[in-house]
Amino acid sequence: MSGTAPQILLQAEGLVQQYTTARSLFGKSSTVRAVDGIDLAVRKGEILGIVGESGSGKSTLGRMLLGLEAPHEGRVLWQGRPMPAPRTPEWRASRAEMQMIFQDPLAALDRRMTISDQIAEPLQIHGTPPDQARARVAELMARVGLRPDQAGRYPHELSGGQRQRVVIARALATNPRFLVCDEPVSALDVSIQAQVVNLLRELQADQGLAMVFISHDLKVVRNICDRVAVMYLGRIVEEGPAERVFSDPRHPYTRALVSSVPRAGQGLSGRILLTGEPPNPAQRPSGCPFHPRCPAAIPACARIQPELERHNGRRAACLRLDGALPDVA
Ligand SMILES: Nc1ncnc2c1ncn2[C@@H]1O[C@H](COP(=O)(O)OP(=O)(O)O)[C@@H](O)[C@H]1O
Ligand code: SF4
Ligand SMILES: [Mg+2]
Repeated sequence: MSGTAPQILLQAEGLVQQYTTARSLFGKSSTVRAVDGIDLAVRKGEILGIVGESGSGKSTLGRMLLGLEAPHEGRVLWQGRPMPAPRTPEWRASRAEMQMIFQDPLAALDRRMTISDQIAEPLQIHGTPPDQARARVAELMARVGLRPDQAGRYPHELSGGQRQRVVIARALATNPRFLVCDEPVSALDVSIQAQVVNLLRELQADQGLAMVFISHDLKVVRNICDRVAVMYLGRIVEEGPAERVFSDPRHPYTRALVSSVPRAGQGLSGRILLTGEPPNPAQRPSGCPFHPRCPAAIPACARIQPELERHNGRRAACLRLDGALPDVA
């Protein structure tokens, strides 16, 4: 028994990922800690947003949650049981239940296969008879808003938004219970983004899917997510109900991110400008990793790494949670 509460579908415990990269001709390598100790639960039927600047480890975390990559340390429990190791028979069997949607639909699709064949592929892999597969492909295409006459088309004959609908239809083919969407609309025209986000939200509501929605677009995350986790240099710095975190952010990094999103009629007047270099996991600062850029830093922040603690209806990692923080207008 893992002791996992029944409503929890997936649980990450102490996840760490590090990559060793060859650096020079002389074989000197460097180690990058992309994810640095993450505890996180995904509940049945919820949308959990993961936000943070580029390089904060969001995609690496997403891949580990799906078992596409084994963690360096820690583990993922899927319905209370350890996630099978990548590419084992048990892992393949679990693939029907979890899927990933990436940023670039063209890269995710095979240019030489028709739309209907690509949507049918996971059904064939899981042994669905051809007649049933054909009917299911038609149903899926209709569900994601593709026309029947597009079935015989190739990816390059569709628009970016239509291609992402194909990717979504294919991901849904085997009735998954869990989807990780990694920047699913970032590569699409702004005018199309809302349509695809609305489609994902409808699908989630209709089918009770649990979803991890990775994005650097806070407006989209606020609009679609039940809960949000904010990442900085491979760690979660704040996590809680989306409305609470966005309306009353407690961590200085979250406050800076939230204040950079224009609010109706207010422009960017309340913006906190982050100074210093963007996060680089190859040069992790001591103590609180955010301290070189933090407007609220005190000397202790350079020495002590804050733990993620319960605070005011969410979890946050900051030494000054109870202190007076600089105001966000
Ligand atoms: N396969 C890999 N090999 C080496 N470094 C990697 C690999 N994947 C990610 N990284 C590094 O890990 C850090 C986090 O990357 P990533 O998870 O892609 O962040 P995000 O999705 O938030 O932009 C980055 O510094 C990135 O360069
Ligand atoms: S611990 Fe210190 S440096 Fe880190 S976020 Fe809190 S105040 Fe800023
Ligand atoms: Mg990424």
